Amino acid sequence: MAIYEEAGASVTEAQIAVHWREEDYLYPSPRFIGQANAPDPAVRERFSEEHFPECFREYADLLDWDTYWHTTLDTSNPPFWDWFVGGRLNACYNCVDRHLATRANQAAFIWVPEPEADPAQSITYRELYRRVNELAALLRDFAGVQAGDRVTLHLPMVPELPIAMLACARLGAVHSEVFAGFSGTACGGRMADSGSRVLVTMDGYYRDGKALDHKAKADEAVAVAKDQGTEVEKVLVFRRHAGQYMSKAPMAEGRDYFVDDVIAGYRGKLVEPVSMPAEAPLFLMYTSGTTGKPKGAQHSTGGYLAYVAGTSKFYLDIHPEDTYWCFADIGWITGHSYIVYGPLALGTTSVMYEGAPAYPDPGRPWRIAERLGVNIFHTAPTTIRMLRKAGPDEPAKYGYHFKLMVTVGEPIEPEVWRWYHGTVGKREAVVVDTWWMTETGGFMGATLPALEPMKPGSCGPGVLGIYPAIYDEEGKPVEAGSGRAGNICIRNPWPGQLQTIWGQPERFVQTYYAKYCHDTQSKDWHDWPFLCGDGAMQAIDGYYRILGRIDDVINVAGHRLGTKELESAVLTVPEVAEAAAVPVVDETRGRVVEMYVSLKPGYSPSQEIEDKAKAAIEREIGKVARPRNVWVVPDMPKTRSGKIMRRVIAGISNFTDVGDITTLANPEVVEAIRRQVYAEKSARGEAPRPLTEQELEEIKAFGRTE
Ligand code: WTA
Repeated sequence: MAIYEEAGASVTEAQIAVHWREEDYLYPSPRFIGQANAPDPAVRERFSEEHFPECFREYADLLDWDTYWHTTLDTSNPPFWDWFVGGRLNACYNCVDRHLATRANQAAFIWVPEPEADPAQSITYRELYRRVNELAALLRDFAGVQAGDRVTLHLPMVPELPIAMLACARLGAVHSEVFAGFSGTACGGRMADSGSRVLVTMDGYYRDGKALDHKAKADEAVAVAKDQGTEVEKVLVFRRHAGQYMSKAPMAEGRDYFVDDVIAGYRGKLVEPVSMPAEAPLFLMYTSGTTGKPKGAQHSTGGYLAYVAGTSKFYLDIHPEDTYWCFADIGWITGHSYIVYGPLALGTTSVMYEGAPAYPDPGRPWRIAERLGVNIFHTAPTTIRMLRKAGPDEPAKYGYHFKLMVTVGEPIEPEVWRWYHGTVGKREAVVVDTWWMTETGGFMGATLPALEPMKPGSCGPGVLGIYPAIYDEEGKPVEAGSGRAGNICIRNPWPGQLQTIWGQPERFVQTYYAKYCHDTQSKDWHDWPFLCGDGAMQAIDGYYRILGRIDDVINVAGHRLGTKELESAVLTVPEVAEAAAVPVVDETRGRVVEMYVSLKPGYSPSQEIEDKAKAAIEREIGKVARPRNVWVVPDMPKTRSGKIMRRVIAGISNFTDVGDITTLANPEVVEAIRRQVYAEKSARGEAPRPLTEQELEEIKAFGRTE
């Protein structure tokens, strides 16, 4: 990869090896190994390349099939692979109905509201069955939802969210959940893209001690969808407190309905689960990439469910009797795969928490864990960093015991890893660093918790049945232990993989396969490596170290934000001529966004323009994307061909070297911007801190398209 090659020219391999020091291994306890789902090394052999693709039968056999499949993998139309062909099943049946015989009265979910005085609610498998059936009946008979229809959900972390997902799955309808922190505009754009006529939302919810009005976003979403050609027929509004409306937004007559009113007519109704082909889409999850609008990653019913069930069993070590808490938002892929579908397919108890990590204080997560007897804990480095900063000694005050802990979503610094393992995990828990992405449906790189030792900062080898490879720009393999980084790919198809980008099959091929497929006529899967979009290096022991995205994506607190989306939002401000988004390294959130803007002739910089730019991002994308600073600059640093050199301003924002600027058309502007930004930052008390080698590489490479 060019970006790392250039680094190699000035830094020797030996120097890199010194900076990226190899960490020591840590091993699981005999007690953990004694109870693990995968204690036998033979599992590696069963999933070795020579057993591909039949090895995945083991995952598919964790499910109940209405019709067993005849072909494990059909590769006749590359790269549109079909798994478990001929099979039929229902995802809701597999997550709910089939557990009734053995564990009807066990909690499927335990939901913890943010206000601490409100009691946690247990939803047993029997209760879940009842609520899912009633909502499925309502969706079908009141909202006219049928198999194959798309239904958009814009729900916060409340039980109604998994209930709505499962109700859609029961009908064979395709759910498309939009993260509740995203704006109405973002939701509306996704509704239009997927052609959803029904929106399921909520009046409000609690976050960081505040009651948020959420229904207002639905009105915006409907208007935006209409602008883009999709008429939303029904908006189904759950009330956070039944019978009590917490939003100020009016209910539109004939369009908006309170679910708690309407559902009274569906009391006790049962809906037969619709038997779907294995390759029928189960859901869409929108995600950001290099260019254009967010893409709807389409996930299948059979392959996806088998994959998340299998990886939940072997990597999360979920047993039905565990109490498992994934502290992520169901609005993202992690929540879909590892709060809802994987854990429920295995019949365990999955904890959901409504609110912010440190509310009302940083002891909250540990109180929840203690009270509920959580023994598997799963969260992201951002949350870990935040809890470590706010309450480094809090975990020791609580008497919970974790057997296993997961980190996901961003690279984790070894220091932070050690606090997680030592202080949160009390040295008892195995830490599993799981690397994957929206498109992969489930884990790609991780250690098998009883079999492969942990190494802080590395996710581990490819998971069972996944054969990764790192390639350079020319497609040559980058060897393990070479100290060089490249583009990490997955050489083989796997059941959890996205099937396509909703409505854009060419973009699917282009985005994930164009770079390394040298023979587009080939019917052999070996010719179709899947480009993951991350830079990575592999140590001699086979463990991967993930360096971060190679596309124009800024990973803010685990949220994938496309620079193009951020920039397009700011360009809606009438005074703005040009906009460029760059990542700034942040102690807690990993990265935050800074925006650079230049103005159209006749306008001069003002606080008002900065505020408008921030407001535009909140409106178009959501508060999560709000930039830390907006710098109104006289001009952007540009190449002679007019491209904005994002790495130069990224360097300034991070107080690092801006690199070679001799190829700029306007090199003189760099010094002016630097002076302006440094002065402002020091006035705001934003002090520089030395970046790690890895962070430096990322900033140097940011936005480089050549
Ligand atoms: C990053 C989240 C390092 C990576 C599941 C990837 C990670 C992007 C890890 C996907 C990890 C995820 N270590 N980086 N363990 N897990 N990432 O689609 O850059 O929201 O490409 O899926 O997060 O983000 P997404």
